[in-house]
Parts: sequence; C-alpha cells; structure tokens
Amino acid sequence: MDIINTLEDLRAARKNMTGSVGLVPTMGFLHAGHISLVKRAVSECENVIVSVFVNPTQFSPTEDFASYPRDLERDAALVQEAGANLVWAPTDQVMYPSEYQTYVSVEEITKVLEGAMRPTHFRGVTTVVAKLFNAVRPDKAYFGQKDAQQVAVLSRMVRDLNFDLEMVICPIVREKDGLALSSRNTYLDKSERQSALVLSRSLRKARTAFLSGERETEKIRKSMEEVFAAEPAARVQYISIADPSSLKEIERIESQALVSMAVYVGKTRLIDNTILGMADPNLDGFDH
Ligand code: PAF
Repeated sequence: MDIINTLEDLRAARKNMTGSVGLVPTMGFLHAGHISLVKRAVSECENVIVSVFVNPTQFSPTEDFASYPRDLERDAALVQEAGANLVWAPTDQVMYPSEYQTYVSVEEITKVLEGAMRPTHFRGVTTVVAKLFNAVRPDKAYFGQKDAQQVAVLSRMVRDLNFDLEMVICPIVREKDGLALSSRNTYLDKSERQSALVLSRSLRKARTAFLSGERETEKIRKSMEEVFAAEPAARVQYISIADPSSLKEIERIESQALVSMAVYVGKTRLIDNTILGMADPNLDGFDH
C-alpha cells in the first residue's frame, strides 16, 4: 500500500488516476466504522484515497490531541485489505505550514451542540476538510453519520463554497450490543464499556416512543432521561432533538428529527445519535 506524505506525490498520483475518485477523510486508528466507509467508496469509485491526519486545529488545548491513538502501519494494512488505492498521510507542516493564517468557518450551525461545547472544533474540521478536498479533488467524499453535526456542517460548506463533489453519508456502525464504534472507545475500561451502552439504549427508547406515535420532543427527552437516571456512571452533557439540517431544537416532530447527545462515561466523552423518521436498522434490529 502506498503511503504518500507530500503534496507533490499526492498530485502526481492523482494525475495518474483515471475514472472517479472517492476520498475517505479520517484521523486514523481505523475501526470497522471507517472501514465501512472505505468499502462503500471502493464499491462506488474507481479510485479511493484514504486520508489519515490527526488534525491539531480541531482539538482545543484541553482535549486529547497528544494522546489521540495513532498507528499508521496498521491503518495502511486495513485500507489495503479494504481495497483502496492509497493512504494520504500529510505531515503537520504540509497541512499547516509556518505562519499559517487561513481558516474556513461555517457560521450558525457550528454554534450549537458540539460547537457550543467545543467552540473552535468545527473551524478546524471545515478548514482541514476544505484543504483535503482541494488537494485530492474527489468526485465523492465519504463521512459517517456518527458525527451528525460534522455531516451537517460539511454539507453546508460544500454547498456554500460550491465544491464540485458529492457528499456520501454512511450509517453508524455499532457493536452487537449497540455501542457506536469510536476510536475513543479504547479509553473505556470494562465497567465503563458496559455503562456506555446507556447511550444506544436511550436512543432506542426515543425511537420506540416515536414509532408508537409520540411527536412531543419534551416527552421523548423525558423518556431518555429516565434511561440515564438508571445509569449513574454516565454524565449527560446534552441531549438534543433538532431539525437534522438546521440543527435548531424542535418542540414537535413533523417529519424528521435528529436526536443527538454527548455523554461522559468516566473521563471519556462519547457522542451518538439517530434520526427519527428515518429507518435505523442497527438500533431497531436488536434488544438491549
Ligand atoms: O471525522 C473525523 O475523523 C475528522 O473530523 C475529519 C473529518 C477526518 C477531519 O479531521
């Protein structure tokens, strides 16, 4: 598997590609969720580039940038096995040369939810993804629904800045017991791993309420809070029931609603979500 670090090598490789190009942007330490994106890209594009870059600008000084798990060799082996063409693993210096001062900001929808808790996060995400798009010039870019706000923000950026590419949003991949896959799950010890199931359990409760006809978001939220009350090891940071595209909180669900949450289990901050009004077989399909 070719691992390319410089822009010159990336541009040369890109020039030699004929047919469609898919990009799967990642921060590495790949798990089955990332691999599902790579496989989807491989099934839809003639060439697939997987970027691996732990992007410093999307971490605040108090977050886990230094300790974020990294293993490029393992990532490259997994990417090769999944059938992609190359790994683009730029250095910090390539992405942010000295005296770097250009950023891409999406305004309103980055101020709520994750953006309210992590004020500089999305500016880092949009900046790095815009740079990856410029470098790779993909026809399609693949992102996971797990980061629901990221999907909404990046879709808005693509639309607002006229990027000539299709955003492909892939479903959340879950463990058999419901835990959404995340690189941060490696921080959980055995008992925290068990407590972390409360996230998917509460989402399932919301789906059950919605499927049995409940449309008042306050009632759906209350039923979720009951699930959390029974799991003292989990500390809810927020539960939101919002319009999936504007991310504005709603009182009554007319068609669809994004139910999303951030929850601390021990020191680990986990996020999860589901869209009510849209099939979610991985949540509806099993019992907790
Ligand atoms: O979702 C992620 O892993 C990151 O936010 C992304 C999109 C690769 C940008 O660094």
